[in-house]
Amino acid sequence: MSSLTITAHSSLCLVIGDPISHSLSPAIHNAGYAALKLPFVMAAAHVTPEKLRDALRGMRAMNIRGLAVTMPHKISIVKLLDALDSTAQEIGAVNTVVNEGGKLVGYNTDWIGIVKPLERLAPLRGKKVLVLGAGGAAQAAVFGCTGRGAQVTICNRTINKARTIARTWKAAVLPIEKSSDLAAFDVIINTTSLGMGALTDESPIPASAICKHHTVFETIYDPFSTRIIRDAEAQGATVLRGVDMFLEQGLAQFELHTGGNNPGVNGTREVMEKILRNAVGP
Ligand code: ATR
Repeated sequence: MSSLTITAHSSLCLVIGDPISHSLSPAIHNAGYAALKLPFVMAAAHVTPEKLRDALRGMRAMNIRGLAVTMPHKISIVKLLDALDSTAQEIGAVNTVVNEGGKLVGYNTDWIGIVKPLERLAPLRGKKVLVLGAGGAAQAAVFGCTGRGAQVTICNRTINKARTIARTWKAAVLPIEKSSDLAAFDVIINTTSLGMGALTDESPIPASAICKHHTVFETIYDPFSTRIIRDAEAQGATVLRGVDMFLEQGLAQFELHTGGNNPGVNGTREVMEKILRNAVGP
């Protein structure tokens, strides 16, 4: 594996969040820079919500090239940037910032992390997609899937949040009490936090609701296999994991930060994927 050369000419990118020490972004981005011999380096910065404005001021002052933005800043950063691309504007959330000659521009690549792995399996046009949850990840999933012509339904514990998102993108809403019969759906995407941390053994839907014809996509990447993934595998369903989403959103982010360098060449994507899977994989 190529090693990264850092000099005074290297462009600096940061992943910012609170907490941040678990982030795998520096590992995969630095592996990509090294593989493509790009003069870039990524580090992690712990930025609390009250320091976000100062962090962006520092970015301008030090000419930091790009940010990967994670929880809890994806929505609050929107109003602090100089411009948004049309997709970030429509989703109302930013996971990528590029410093374009002193102008901080926000992008969203999370939706690409959802759509690309799904479309590698089959086109989304006409597919019936159920999105579980109604936070920022759900918004990116609903935006991405409706944009590709899928019929999207949202199911969330707090139904009013599902209704708000559904109105924006002309999706349907399924009350959580009705989530025991999901046979009509082709794809189920979990964007809730059930499966993460202390909730690792919980799933937002009963195992018996998962059918063999479903593709079940989990957006949590750590742990590698959450409860809904284990249930889906037991039912013989097709499975996509959080690592699939994390990799795709990261590859799109890499291109934006490096001004169009495509990590699809020279085995770069494979190097980045290997690092990720070694970090959280089975
Ligand atoms: P993100 O921006 O990453 O999507 P978020 O905005 O915190 O994260 O959203 C988390 C989602 O998980 C929400 O849809 C939340 O449901 P509510 O809108 O009802 O809060 C869902 N969620 C979290 N804990 C849950 C639980 N114990 N049972 C069901 N849903 C839960």
